[in-house]
Amino acid sequence: MRVRKSSVPSSTLEAEYPGLKKRFSQTLVVWQKEHGRNTLPWQNTQDPYRVWLSEIMLQQTQVTTVLDYYAKFLQRFPTVSDLAVAQTDEVMALWSGLGYYSRARNMHRCAQQVMALHQGRFPNNADQLQTLPGIGPSTAAAIASFCFAERAAILDGNVKRVLTRVLAFSGDLAQSSQERQLLSIANSLLPEQDLKNQMPRYTQALMDLGATVCTPRRPQCAVCPVQDLCQGFAGDAAEKYPVKTKKLKRSTQTLALLWAERPDGSVWLERRPASGIWGGLYCLPVFESQDALMSFVPEHLHVRMASLAPLKHALTHKDLYLYPVMTGFSVMDDMPQRITATSPAPAGAWFAPDVWPGLGLPAPVRKLLQRDTA
Ligand code: ADE
Repeated sequence: MRVRKSSVPSSTLEAEYPGLKKRFSQTLVVWQKEHGRNTLPWQNTQDPYRVWLSEIMLQQTQVTTVLDYYAKFLQRFPTVSDLAVAQTDEVMALWSGLGYYSRARNMHRCAQQVMALHQGRFPNNADQLQTLPGIGPSTAAAIASFCFAERAAILDGNVKRVLTRVLAFSGDLAQSSQERQLLSIANSLLPEQDLKNQMPRYTQALMDLGATVCTPRRPQCAVCPVQDLCQGFAGDAAEKYPVKTKKLKRSTQTLALLWAERPDGSVWLERRPASGIWGGLYCLPVFESQDALMSFVPEHLHVRMASLAPLKHALTHKDLYLYPVMTGFSVMDDMPQRITATSPAPAGAWFAPDVWPGLGLPAPVRKLLQRDTA
């Protein structure tokens, strides 16, 4: 059953924002043609596989970073069925460095579900797209509007900024009721005619306006196509929006990494548990502290240990300080059994340097290992 999308009655919208409903989408559609981004590799296609791939990669990641990964991914997996039958390790390896690895795991599962449950074709509407792993409401709306011209409203960070400024929307977006209210208005502002042309262009226009004009700091209001409709601008307060009270505090974490190396250059790598930091990737064994690492390594190897310079690595909500400790293992030295809080203990093996590039490794670990072989 389709749930009717909540939207604000035209009369209410017109009373509060005169002229907005009539002019907003049309103005943006015209502006996008001339001033928007029109040559990105995932544009000018209605292939849902390509659009989906780009939308997942673009979540929390800059366009310039995605370009390279997108090309490599498509070259290796040209269709959803190629991706569905791939080994997880290969998918993770191609994703390595993009971060937020749950995206890659969900993407792989999504491809498998498209094959198993939808005869290899992505569903053609936002409601059904949302039932697939890793596809939330905004991503579903983006795919549905780009590929199927559906009247579906995207509401990612860029679009929230544009809309809250235009509307001078002072509700706190940390509250889900306020976010729902903003979504209702977003639904009301969608184009109503010539959807085949207008929906994809309008969706792209909102993304482009948020990324290039209506930026978080110092928005370029002087060149904004909807400046005369913008109540934030009129109140000289565009930068006050969006209002969101919940502030995420950055934390720090220190981890020790055991770089155990045999004389042939092979290094012991373990697969991380599926959830938590670097979930599902291969990694040097991780310890809460250097003391914990020291007590894990057999005593007769302590003379062959050396601490390397620590690395700082920024995750979204956390700064990681990584302390690598190198230890020479002989071919006779086995890696001791790991006793960890998570069970089963991570599975590990000795990996020769020539196979490292094909493994999904966390970016700082890859950098660390490469420094040695460069
Ligand atoms: N961010 C999310 N989707 C995008 C798209 N289609 N183009 C540019 N940036 C985006």
